[in-house]
Amino acid sequence: MTVENKDSAARFLDLTADYLAGGYRRNREDRAGSPPPAEPAPGEGTNTAPPSPIAPAAGGDSLESVAADVARCERCGLCGGRTNTVPGEGVPRPLVMVIGEGPGADEDATGRPFVGRAGQLLDRMLDSRGRIGLSRNVNCYIANVVKCRPPGNRNPQPDEIAACVPFLIRQIKLLHPRIILAAGNTAAKTLLESTEGITRLRGRFAEFTGTSLTRGEFSIPLLPTFHPSALLRDESLKAPVWEDLKQLRAKLAALDEDYAALAAGRPL
Ligand code: URA
Repeated sequence: MTVENKDSAARFLDLTADYLAGGYRRNREDRAGSPPPAEPAPGEGTNTAPPSPIAPAAGGDSLESVAADVARCERCGLCGGRTNTVPGEGVPRPLVMVIGEGPGADEDATGRPFVGRAGQLLDRMLDSRGRIGLSRNVNCYIANVVKCRPPGNRNPQPDEIAACVPFLIRQIKLLHPRIILAAGNTAAKTLLESTEGITRLRGRFAEFTGTSLTRGEFSIPLLPTFHPSALLRDESLKAPVWEDLKQLRAKLAALDEDYAALAAGRPL
């Protein structure tokens, strides 16, 4: 099933829940009702724990409920090897949502995204000595395509990505960042449903499109760039990534007045 099909399935469950609860969604927080039926995960149905819902419950979605659903998810084999799930972290109204591939050993140990060497480099890239001025503490949210560590840091498999991506879609809808920065092959190819690799995709703005009940059809500019782990392996990628960050800065300045003022005070 493609990302968009998963998204449509989640939307259908969402709409069905709204319909059953009395009609058009105006204020999900005020509505009471049964959650939509969740697809059983492999092996579920025989134990008493409720299955992890792939679509938000009828009472309205939140970052906290995504994290709670991720924490009890057993939709793919990655759950067997995890110490912690790694849903994501950052501010709730971010200028930029950075999306990586999946947790590594440090992230699995802490439950926090991008805290190892690649994460420290990512933090430095996003700030770039104030010239880009982005940080997970101030104006970014950082998440991954898969929320559990693939063994040995291998690439996540298509079935693992398919199982996990609905959580990411929920996060994107909740956060609605001004821009998505897709770090690396897995994030760029998954979000753009592209067969092209990161070397061809990077440095060109594309659009992530979806549908939400509150916004209808929406589209968010998405910039693919190299993953910070790739920069740790190959220093020559620093120059193209700097070009990408400058593009990110220019686009953000065009989209957000406050960021434009910040950028104007810090010439490149
Ligand atoms: N690499 C990723 O893609 N994500 C992390 O959270 C850490 C390393």
